[in-house]
Amino acid sequence: MISVFQDHKFDGILNNKFMKILRIDSSVRIEQSKTRMLTDYFLEQLKNQSDYLLKSRDVGINPPKFPTDEFIKANYTPETNRTQEMKNVLASSNTLIDELIDSDKIIIASPMYNFSISATLKAYIDNIVRVGRTFTLTENGEMKGLLGSKKVLVITARGAMSYEKGEVLQPFDFQENYLKSLLNFLGISDITFVNTEAQDFGTKELKNSNFEHSKNQLSELAKIW
Ligand SMILES: Cc1cc2nc3c(=O)[nH]c(=O)nc-3n(C[C@H](O)[C@H](O)[C@H](O)COP(=O)(O)O)c2cc1C
Repeated sequence: MISVFQDHKFDGILNNKFMKILRIDSSVRIEQSKTRMLTDYFLEQLKNQSDYLLKSRDVGINPPKFPTDEFIKANYTPETNRTQEMKNVLASSNTLIDELIDSDKIIIASPMYNFSISATLKAYIDNIVRVGRTFTLTENGEMKGLLGSKKVLVITARGAMSYEKGEVLQPFDFQENYLKSLLNFLGISDITFVNTEAQDFGTKELKNSNFEHSKNQLSELAKIW
């Protein structure tokens, strides 16, 4: 069963019963977006395996605001000292963080743009990586992620191919390594990547076979995720 959670406040019964999945889309493409199609497919497969509640956050269509001078000042002001204006500045960031913290599992649908993630996904990340909320400083002054218990699936699509280890474009892949390091920083280590290559520049056969390969990977993953 799939339900939608629009409000991050759950009652206890729902909290205990259903796995809560946060889906983050970040393609600016609405139709024929490979990351959206593969994420839809994965959720369909998952539906056959388990009950879950789904929250969709589409930063491709509704990009979060970029941080501003006011945002930074408010963020670094201790919560108890924040003015109402500062609280207003941080409100949308807090909403994004609340729903992230409240989820058990996260799916990030990420198109490769210029060898990295989309600007809208970066804007989202700039909103959710905040001291005291998603990471903290320990007594030794070390930084520690606070999202440790979560599981993440990252579904990427790339126009070209040969980004795999040892291949010619591997040094250009600033997408997988960046997202992996960022999630590790937030304390998350259970991360799976499904990368779909050759979606724009390969032959039709290559494009289709890569897409089908990703679907097969996602079908298998849905049985154990
Ligand atoms: C602005 C932009 C930049 C892109 N840069 C790259 C790139 O650096 N490398 C690549 O392999 N494909 C690149 N592509 C192709 C996309 O990764 C490809 O179209 C992919 O399918 C996007 O995901 P989507 O179908 O979910 O939108 C780019 C596409 C756009 C629109």
